[in-house]
Amino acid sequence: MIQSQTLRAAAMAAVFAAFAGAVAAQPPGDPVRGKQLYYNNTCYGCHGFQGQTGARNLVGTNSPIIADPKTFLAFLRDRGSYAPMIPSTSMPTFPAIAISDRQAMDIYAYIKTFKLDSPDVKDIPLFAKIQSSAGAPYKPGK
Ligand code: HEC
Repeated sequence: MIQSQTLRAAAMAAVFAAFAGAVAAQPPGDPVRGKQLYYNNTCYGCHGFQGQTGARNLVGTNSPIIADPKTFLAFLRDRGSYAPMIPSTSMPTFPAIAISDRQAMDIYAYIKTFKLDSPDVKDIPLFAKIQSSAGAPYKPGK
């Protein structure tokens, strides 16, 4: 599952890299403004407040779309226009009249502050209990 997502992200990145070439180099964004824009544009509704839940994680995926600001910008702008080439159209396009290039870079800077903080399975007591009881011999009637 994760592997197919990675492959798909790589394929989409290849598509968007072509368009990203047309986008001028962007100044680094401001994560404080980006946070507000992330809320205002309802990114959190589909990606979670920390980018760790919802439609697609924005952290911990090694996605080329998130690794490069120009690819990120091209993704926001062009995916709707080129939707037939992309398996999913469930994320809205955000054109420049909705989010300026500068604002997009602010959002990008904010997304880059996300840290994957989900605990390890062994650190969740309930999972540890399930794991150990799954390894125990079956005792009928108990
Ligand atoms: C209505 C739900 C929805 C909203 C709102 C939304 N997204 Fe998405 N987003 C998605 C879905 C679904 C995908 C996966 C798209 C696909 O696979 O084609 C996605 C993918 C992404 C990706 C690529 C992730 C990857 O590495 O594959 C980025 C980056 C992203 N969204 C950023 C944003 C930002 C920034 C906003 C707000 C400006 C936003 N999204 C708002 C649903 C949404």
